[in-house]
Amino acid sequence: MLSLWMRAAVGRQQALVVILCLLKMGSVAAQARYSIPEEQSEGSFVGNIARDLGLDLQRLLSGNARIITKDSKQYVDLNRDKGILVIKERIDREELCGKTTPCSFSFEVILENPIQLYRVTVEVIDVNDNSPSFQKDEINLKIVESVAPGTRFSLVSAEDPDVGINDIQKYLLKPLDHFKLEVQNQPDGGTFIEIVLQNTLDREKEETHTLVLIASDGGEPRRSGTVRIHINVLDANDNAPVCSQSVYKAEVRENSPEGTVVTTVGADDLDKGLYGEVTFSIPHVGKEAKQLFDVNIKTGEIKVAGKVDFEKSKTYQLNVQASDHGGYSDTCKVIIQVIDENDNAPTIQLMSFSNLISEDSPPGTTIAVVNVDDEDSERNGLVRCSINSDVPFKIESSLTGYYTIVTENILDRETFPEYNITITVSDQGSPPLSNSKNINVKISDVNDNPPQFGRSEYTVSIPENNSPGFSVFAVSATDADWGQNARLSYFLEDKQINGVAIMSLLSVNSDSGVIHALKSLDYEQIKWFDFNITARDAGSPPLSSVATVKIIVQDQNDNPPQVLYPVQTGGSLVAEMVPRSADVGYLVTKVVAVDVDSGQNAWLSYKLQKATDRALFEVGSQNGEIRTIRQVTDKDAVKQRLTVIVEDNGQPSRSATVIVNVAVADSFPEVLSEFTDFPHDKEYNDNLTFYLVLALAVVSFLFITCLVVIISVKIYRWRQSRILYHSNLPVIPYYPPRYSDTLGTGTLPHVYNYEVCRTTDSRKSDNKFGGAGGQNVLIMDPSSTGTMQRIQSEKSILDEPDSPLEVS
Ligand SMILES: *[C@@H]1O[C@H](CO)[C@@H](O)[C@H](O)[C@H]1NC(C)=O
Repeated sequence: MLSLWMRAAVGRQQALVVILCLLKMGSVAAQARYSIPEEQSEGSFVGNIARDLGLDLQRLLSGNARIITKDSKQYVDLNRDKGILVIKERIDREELCGKTTPCSFSFEVILENPIQLYRVTVEVIDVNDNSPSFQKDEINLKIVESVAPGTRFSLVSAEDPDVGINDIQKYLLKPLDHFKLEVQNQPDGGTFIEIVLQNTLDREKEETHTLVLIASDGGEPRRSGTVRIHINVLDANDNAPVCSQSVYKAEVRENSPEGTVVTTVGADDLDKGLYGEVTFSIPHVGKEAKQLFDVNIKTGEIKVAGKVDFEKSKTYQLNVQASDHGGYSDTCKVIIQVIDENDNAPTIQLMSFSNLISEDSPPGTTIAVVNVDDEDSERNGLVRCSINSDVPFKIESSLTGYYTIVTENILDRETFPEYNITITVSDQGSPPLSNSKNINVKISDVNDNPPQFGRSEYTVSIPENNSPGFSVFAVSATDADWGQNARLSYFLEDKQINGVAIMSLLSVNSDSGVIHALKSLDYEQIKWFDFNITARDAGSPPLSSVATVKIIVQDQNDNPPQVLYPVQTGGSLVAEMVPRSADVGYLVTKVVAVDVDSGQNAWLSYKLQKATDRALFEVGSQNGEIRTIRQVTDKDAVKQRLTVIVEDNGQPSRSATVIVNVAVADSFPEVLSEFTDFPHDKEYNDNLTFYLVLALAVVSFLFITCLVVIISVKIYRWRQSRILYHSNLPVIPYYPPRYSDTLGTGTLPHVYNYEVCRTTDSRKSDNKFGGAGGQNVLIMDPSSTGTMQRIQSEKSILDEPDSPLEVS
């Protein structure tokens, strides 16, 4: 071992490096060990830490490598650019370690991101920079002349702060004519020096003797120290004091109050008087021990005189001199053992700490490195470090005295945004001492929560004919994350509704989620539709969720009833014929109307508004059937004009009126003569030129003549058939396809009675709606077929019963 240090000392800058790779925790990778001689000048090279720990220079810079030391002094500095350790402050091995050998100090090199901790130990090699020295330059001894040869006189030994070979190696006494030197190495490492009388002294011959004692060390170069010993030869004193015990052993608790008795030394002297009176003193004692202990000069009681600190020194040795007044003395050795008290609380030092940790950090992520220390020894210095158990962190020991706090579980900022961690450290003394430190850790947000709608499906009713820009509804979602991760935007999901893009019907405010209608909705076109709304947060990557909104369009009474029969056209004239023989309750015709609204808005009722003869006809308020209410008489006018009003049940209600012309006659000529002056003819004639009128008159005359002939024949045949079947059933009005009020409720179920009637043999099997209907209806408008087609085409559009959207 010694030779190793020697080599290092000789090679000065070439430090001996021992690297112990001890992999314990992730944060502690290795240890490095260097040896350097003491007293190196500032900036001297200590070791290439980067090379020895296998770190590249970039890592040192990025990890903000630095030295952490518990001591008040930092002897070594880290040159981060070169990756080397250099001397920062001159090291005095004697100041650092005293007599302790080997002498070393440790510190940690810490790197962050991730945290890594390296322990570096530097051994300081002694240099022979101190000479042996005696406490005094001169020692005065009084020796009675009668002392026999072989009597021993103890001397205080020299001291050299250096160690090993640089410590004192030998003593030399000159001259040797009366005394010889005896050197004993003591078990506690000290040296006990005595001079032994060889020849009897004779005061009368020589009253004083002067000796020189030289202590020299083994360093290179050799150093030495001297003391002069002046001996006064006294007159006889026969007996020397004798210590009752040659070695006293005592124990003292550290921190004992001043005045505590440690032990009492005693000595006997057989002489009488002054020569037999023993006094005690501690003549040669280290500076420290002198302040701590006092000996009572008379009783030999040793008391505590200062603050005894176990942490400074564990044992003291006192050489108590018992002297009589005649110059004799004896040395009583007192070895005092200091007993440790648990007087130092453990300390906690935060070495590295990141107070913000991402919530997606995996278990085992280091958040702090702490160093704990206790200056006491044994159980009093044995520390245990823990943290409160209600946090998802655990503490692990990474290196003696070092602990890392790591995450134990998955963190969730939404549940706990921060934690207070209490680090508690306690020793095992009795009573134990403890210390604690609080740290606050904040959890930073990660976008791990999708937005959440209050409901997955919303149903909203809006009345039709809304104004564009009408605010329909507001959706709202929440996001448990924070900041940008919780900032939500709303989007419409593109969708086609029967070829119409949803975007053209509705818009959503991306910030507020308010849905506006862009167009007026029409219940008759679209009864309901649904679409999806996406809420998306602004995290990276963003998260989103979808809700479905179903819009139900509510009907309003925005359509008046439409009369399908009798057909009302400008230029046509349809008249229902009632034979004069008709009975009470004779069904003249039926007003057929529809309303494209629904429900109450399409519930129709019929009323007779005006009539030529109110006493003759009534209208079924539910079914629109016009019937006679009394027997037709010959006095009744041929031409009867009824105005029927059709109202729906909406709020407010809408209505339509229809004029029904009724001819009370038995024959067509009768009818014609009455109807020729119907006022609508005048409208026609207004714009015709004279020639047109003339031409029309001629054509009409020819046509009517032919018609009268044909009708006459027909009437003849009809009368024949009437005799055969004698049916008094009334008119079958012209029903547009698919419309027939069979139930008389005013609503129009989709029953296609009309076709059914037409496909049976109307003359024979379905005589209820007897075949004469067609002849009972007089259609005098050549354009009426065109009107029917138009109505039919409208109906076929309306009659798509199951489609949610009806677009015409
Ligand atoms: C942590 O401690 C601080 C200060 O004492 C306190 O304001 C905060 O509420 C504590 N937080 C938790 C999560 O306990």
